[in-house]
Amino acid sequence: MSAPNKPAPNQPDPTALAGKAAALPALDIARFREAMSRIATAVHVLTTDGVSGRCGATVSAACSLTDSPPALIVCVNRSSRIHAAVMENRVFCLNTLAGHQSGLSDTFAGRNGADMEPRFASAEWITGATGAPVLVGALMSADCSLLQTHDVGSHSIFIGALKDVRLGEAHDALIYKARAYHSL
Ligand SMILES: Cc1cc2nc3c(=O)[nH]c(=O)nc-3n(C[C@H](O)[C@H](O)[C@H](O)COP(=O)(O)O)c2cc1C
Repeated sequence: MSAPNKPAPNQPDPTALAGKAAALPALDIARFREAMSRIATAVHVLTTDGVSGRCGATVSAACSLTDSPPALIVCVNRSSRIHAAVMENRVFCLNTLAGHQSGLSDTFAGRNGADMEPRFASAEWITGATGAPVLVGALMSADCSLLQTHDVGSHSIFIGALKDVRLGEAHDALIYKARAYHSL
């Protein structure tokens, strides 16, 4: 179930946060973006399927939340199609890309203009326990039901409760740093 978007006592109102970010000088936002680009991150294809249909997008803002119970978080732009689809389908699968899969990352980021069907046609999939597409050849695929959402400015944090996990071959990981791909 989604959490109501009412701020808890003593917590900042997320909409107020959005207003403050917008009020920052442009230089500070540029410096923040530059600072974030210095952080090396793994790259994943986030997928979903259900009443709203099959959808996928590249994400790097994802990490483990807790192992008791197993749960992870993903930060997703509220204007993206994957956001609307996950909100409706209530499930998602986080597929972590291997070092040789930068082309798939670009495809699911919409960089070559591919719509959903061509995006999915560019790789092999199986259906996970939740119904979300699981990428064959991913380093790992974490199949989750949507536990909670929290809106902050332009993005939502999706909290997923793990329903199944699939481990692929232990290839090098695809890493994104300084707006470029690396293999580690
Ligand atoms: C390496 C990389 C990492 C990205 N990480 C995120 C992310 O964490 N969250 C997000 O909302 N979008 C992220 N994006 C952007 C989305 O992939 C892209 O905006 C989205 O797929 C395009 O929207 P569409 O699927 O509706 O066409 C990332 C893009 C790239 C190339």
